This record gives sequence, structure tokens and C-alpha cells, in this order.
Amino acid sequence: MSRLRTAILISGRGSNMDALIAAAKDRNFPADIALVLSNRPDAPGLAKAKAAGVATAAVDHKIYAGREEFERSLQLVLETYRIEFICLAGFMRMFTPGFVGLWRGRMLNIHPALLPSYRGLDTHQRALADGVKIHGATVHFVAPEMDEGPIVAQAAVPVLDDDTPQTLAARVLAQEHVIYPMALQLVASDAVRIDGNRVLGAPASDDATLVVPDLTAAPRRIA
Ligand code: GAR
Repeated sequence: MSRLRTAILISGRGSNMDALIAAAKDRNFPADIALVLSNRPDAPGLAKAKAAGVATAAVDHKIYAGREEFERSLQLVLETYRIEFICLAGFMRMFTPGFVGLWRGRMLNIHPALLPSYRGLDTHQRALADGVKIHGATVHFVAPEMDEGPIVAQAAVPVLDDDTPQTLAARVLAQEHVIYPMALQLVASDAVRIDGNRVLGAPASDDATLVVPDLTAAPRRIA
């Protein structure tokens, strides 16, 4: 079986990167993590990737005059490593429509919210401020507009009364680590297809509904 040569692009700590690398350790996983690339040479995730035996590279966006120049270097590195597919994992740079077009249908992103709600930054803080009861994470194909594109997978978590942005982020992040490898597996094995703005063909979950509050849970006295 030939495995899809995949690059993970990071800007920071790389916990989603860790989850993808761990999943791809299994020889039966349909993607091979051939490169971890960061726009920040000091990204902590780079050292972790190296320690896991994955090739790493840094293309520092700050030394380029503009986005196109930065992306040309990025593309050169990706071609050098014969990369066929990209997973953005906490990669905090926007791409030009030209670069997105080059990788159309071959680039996934993970976002810490149930898109199309809460595009952009500070998603957990905004979800708490809005008082939503269900929050979550989304893996989607990358489109030119920020945090848009056909959705491959989502995970929902309940928002608890005593949540802070940090506790909510941690609960969402744990689910990110579950759905990102799952989404890459579905896409890399050609189990799903893009149909307009939808991704079809994935096995459906059972029809259990996540309802918050859950009145079947043990009652708690309100102080
Ligand atoms: C993750 O929560 C990811 O969803 C988010 O950044 C974090 C990176 O953590 N991505 C975005 O906000 C992109 N818009 P990680 O480096 O530990 O994977």
C-alpha cells in the first residue's frame, strides 16, 4: 500500500501534530508523516517531531517581504520532500488564494470550534461569553476564506458551569486529538469525497444526540 506523503504545518506546541504522528506510526495508516514544517524556527513542536524521528524544516515568515515570497519558499520545501498532502495543526498564518488553489482538496485544517460558529481567534472565550451549552472542534478542507471549507469531522463537548477558557480548551483539545487522525485516515484512504461544500461517504455515527443539560445524569443540588 502506498501511503500519502503528508506534511504537518505548525506554529507552536504541536499537540495535534503529536496525535497525527502517533496514528501514522501504524504501518496500516494510509498517510505517512514525511515532514513537519513551521513558520516559527523556535516552535516547540519542531523538537518533538525530531525526537519522534520525523524530518523537520522551518521557513521563517518574518524574513520574507510578503506572503507570496514566503509561500514560494514553503512550496519549494514541500516539493523537495515530495509532499502530496498538508495538515495544518495550529498553523497561525493565512495563505493567499493562490497557495490554497495549489493545494485545493489536499489540505486540511483543525479549528477549535464547531464551524461555522466562532471562526478566528479566542473561540473558547467567545463561546463562554455567548453562553452556548455545546462547543467543540472541526476538521475541514482549507478554502481561501479563513476557517471555511468542506467539513470532514466535528466533535462536540458540553460546556460546564464552572468552565474557564482554559478548562474548556482542554476538553476540546482532547477531542481534537481524536478527530484529526480520524479525518486524515478517511481522506487519505479515499473513503470520502467532496461534494460542493459537503464531505460525503464517512460512516455515520449512531443517531444518539448530545443534549446539554443531560437530565438523565445524577441530579446535583444548586448551591
Ligand atoms: C489547536 O487547538 C488548534 O485547533 C488551534 O490551535 C491549537 C494548536 O494546538 N488552531 C487554530 O486556532 C487555527 N485557527 P497544538 O499546537 O497543540 O496542536
